[in-house]
Amino acid sequence: MKVLVAFDTKYGNTETVAKTIAESIRSVDGIEVTLSNMKKVDFKKLDGYDAILIGCPTHFGGPTRGAKKFVDKLGKTDLKGTKVAIFDTYIKEDFEKSVKELEKRIDEKTPRLQLLIPGLSIQVEDMKGPILENEFPKCREFGKQVVSQLKP
Ligand SMILES: Cc1cc2nc3c(=O)[nH]c(=O)nc-3n(C[C@H](O)[C@H](O)[C@H](O)COP(=O)(O)O)c2cc1C
Repeated sequence: MKVLVAFDTKYGNTETVAKTIAESIRSVDGIEVTLSNMKKVDFKKLDGYDAILIGCPTHFGGPTRGAKKFVDKLGKTDLKGTKVAIFDTYIKEDFEKSVKELEKRIDEKTPRLQLLIPGLSIQVEDMKGPILENEFPKCREFGKQVVSQLKP
């Protein structure tokens, strides 16, 4: 089993969420996890992944441009059957806004890839963070859910 956790970030909080999810997945035997800034992902090497998790901060009420581009690029690959799950970070009232928008985009632009589990939305205290302490268990739980849905 191989999982890619690809994140966009400006201040590092979404990277921390990605890391926490990755560590939770990694704690299960037999699963290989790659953590990468989405800018560095090589689209020619995505073949072997069973799941790709995509995370970004919320900017102007939705996902970052980079995350939208990433999904659009995924739609142009010939990947088939790879599972996808989304996570975001936000402040104040924009809970799940980016998650929902990216999930819709996955349906529209990457119809060959299916969503594995409902997305995760993590609150940060202010623009630059930090992540609210009570959000960390949700990241770990998300990782566990990914594993339980992937494992036969
Ligand atoms: C240009 C910009 C626009 C933002 N717009 C929103 C917004 O509309 N809603 C929101 O909840 N947070 C907004 N934020 C706060 C980000 O969601 C927050 O900075 C982010 O979650 C931190 O993640 P990062 O450290 O990975 O960049 C904005 C931040 C920036 C820099």
